[in-house]
Order: sequence, then C-alpha cells, then structure tokens
Amino acid sequence: MLEHLDRLSPDPILGLMAAFRADTDPRKVDLGVGVYRDDRGDTPIMQAVREAEREVLERQTTKTYVAPAGNPAFNDAIGQLVLGDGHAALAGRLRAVQAPGGCGALRLGAELIRTAVPDAVVHVSTPTWANHVPLLSNCGLKLERYPYFDATTGGVAFEAMMGALDALPARSVVLLHASCHNPTGADLEDGQWREVLSVMRRRSLLPFIDIAYQGLGRGLAEDAFAARLMCAELPEALVAVSSSKNFGLYRERVGALLTLSETGAAADAALSQLVRIARGLYSMPPDHGAAIVARILGSGLRGQWEQELASMRERIAQLRAETVRALAGTCARRDFSHIVRQRGMFSYLGIDKETVHRLREQHHVYMTDDSRINIAGLRHENIPYFAEAVARAVG
Ligand code: LMR
Repeated sequence: MLEHLDRLSPDPILGLMAAFRADTDPRKVDLGVGVYRDDRGDTPIMQAVREAEREVLERQTTKTYVAPAGNPAFNDAIGQLVLGDGHAALAGRLRAVQAPGGCGALRLGAELIRTAVPDAVVHVSTPTWANHVPLLSNCGLKLERYPYFDATTGGVAFEAMMGALDALPARSVVLLHASCHNPTGADLEDGQWREVLSVMRRRSLLPFIDIAYQGLGRGLAEDAFAARLMCAELPEALVAVSSSKNFGLYRERVGALLTLSETGAAADAALSQLVRIARGLYSMPPDHGAAIVARILGSGLRGQWEQELASMRERIAQLRAETVRALAGTCARRDFSHIVRQRGMFSYLGIDKETVHRLREQHHVYMTDDSRINIAGLRHENIPYFAEAVARAVG
C-alpha cells in the first residue's frame, strides 16, 4: 500500500535546521529557524519558566487527562494577555481553547472556518510564513493572496494591500500577522491597523489574526494592538496565539485559539465545535507547557518574565542596529537600512537564492531561500564575520 508514496524534500525551515546541526564548521551561523538565541548562541530557558516549572512539578498530584479545551487557567490567562485586562470582549463573547502550539491554533481555526462556511476563502499576505499554507489549506479551505511587502522600501505595500482587501467578497477570511510579520519583519503602524479595521467592517470580512511574537517587537501591549482593536470593534474574529517565542517554550507546544463571536450563545457554540474538532485531531493538547504559562501569568513570576522578555526584545533591536552598521561597512553599495526599521525576529536580506546558497555552502551562513534572516541568531562576535560573508557572496 505504501510503496507508491513519493519521497518529499525536507521542510524549508526545519530542513535547514537539520542541515545546520550537521555542519561541523566552527564559524557556522544559524539565521534559519525562528528561535531566540542569547550572546552565546544558546536558546536559554527563561528563569521565570524554570521557577514556574519547578512549582508546577511540586504541586502536581496526578497525570490524569485534562480536557480537549486544555487548562482553563491557561485559557483565561492567555485571553487576558493578548487582549489586556478589562477588554470588553472578555466579558462574554470570547472563548479560548488551548492548542498544541500556534500551529495547532491555526489548524483549529481553519477547521472551525471550514465547519462554519465550507467554501470560505482565506486570504494570506504575499509573502507569508511558509507553514501557513499547509496549516490553513490541508483541511480543504481555499487560499488566495493579497499584496503585502514592498521590496523597494522594505515596508508594507499598504495601498496595494488596502486595494486588495477592499475588493474581497463579504465573508472572506483575512489572515493578518499581528506584529513582527513573518517572514518580512515589516509591520503596519497603529493608524494603518485602524484603516484595515474599517475595510474589514465595511466589507464584512473575518480577521484571523496570528500572534506569535507578542512582546518581541515593541512591547506586550503594543504588539497586541491589532488583536485588541479588532476584538473591540468587530462582531467576530479568530486569534491564533503561540507561547513558543515569548515564553521560549518551543518544544512544549503551547498555544491557543481565541474566538470572538457576536453573542455569548454563538461563542458557546463555537467552543463546542472546537472541542469536537480537537477531539478528532489529537484529542487533548499536551499539558506541561500550558501549566507553566498559567503559573507565570497567575503569580509573582509575571514581573520577572516581563523583564526577561524586555531584555530579549532590546537585544534584538541592538542586533538590528549593529548588523546594519556592519553591512554598511562591508557592502557600501547596498542599502540594508530597512533591517533597523523593522521589528521582531525576522527581516529579508534582499539577496537572490543563488547568493543564499553561496552563503550556506562557502561561508556556513544559513538562511531560508527567500533570504529571511533570524536576527536573534546573530551575536555581537559573529556580526563582522556575517557582514564579511555577505559582501563576498554578493560579489
Ligand atoms: C519560523 O518561522 O522559523 C518558526 O516559526 C519555526 C517554524 O516552525 O517554522
């Protein structure tokens, strides 16, 4: 039965991670997979996470099942973290379901849309995170694209984006990156989000907001601006949340899907559907990481976590500035200043695929073929090597 299966090439991001691990050159630089790294190149466990984990293990008395919707304390806390305390939606129209990572949340959202409107079309930005495509379309939803990135300015092609959204049929779904756009690093300003809100309202579009980097761009509240605005002003919204990056809990697979419905009864119906969908996909999400997040957000550890997150955010901003300075020194004929104007982990370097491959093969610098670099993969010490390697590869 299985003999006719085609062998697939590795995933563009995870395949790169494996290739980097296999490279034995001591100068190697990993700018591929989106994980935060410190000055030593390690992806550390946050102190608040270590402490919460200890407390969770000490207090845990059983390993019995939790529930398809996950840990209620986590679900409440994550809704509050994203929307902010006292947000009107928390009073009755919002529901949260714990999911196996932001990926699981995206898939739950896609399945819910497919259940509600089987022929719904989801519109994603050009470009978007590579894994959005299978996560959203494997359940049968149709995907279309809207313009987003302007390679000449390194910013958002806002007019083109608005023009495309304004032409969508009612009840289209629009996947929006809340902040720290993956892969470009180019985000909308708050005023632009307000304009997006008007078009969503005018055209009766459903926002499906992906928030995977809250706290790593401008700040916890600032990075959630779009989610807070849409959930305050629109009747319905979906928000896929990841705790991988801002809690550093990548391998624990912690995320949540938030649903905003027009009434409390509709919200309960959506939740019941999500519970059924989760049961049919994986039954229940893993508990450990969500228990840690719930502990941090519900205890005195929250302040410490916020401080650690702030220093990660500041470090990324410093690395951006340092990288642009170094590249200006080695590649004077090219302009990389967009990198310092962008936020979060990613930016495009703006080089072609052949140059990306030369960087990998000749200089052991790893990035995805579209030249997305994970800024947090750079270190003060290896920025000069990186800038020199780029200059040589560019020629
Ligand atoms: C990334 O974009 O590199 C991360 O979100 C990790 C992943 O799963 O692709």
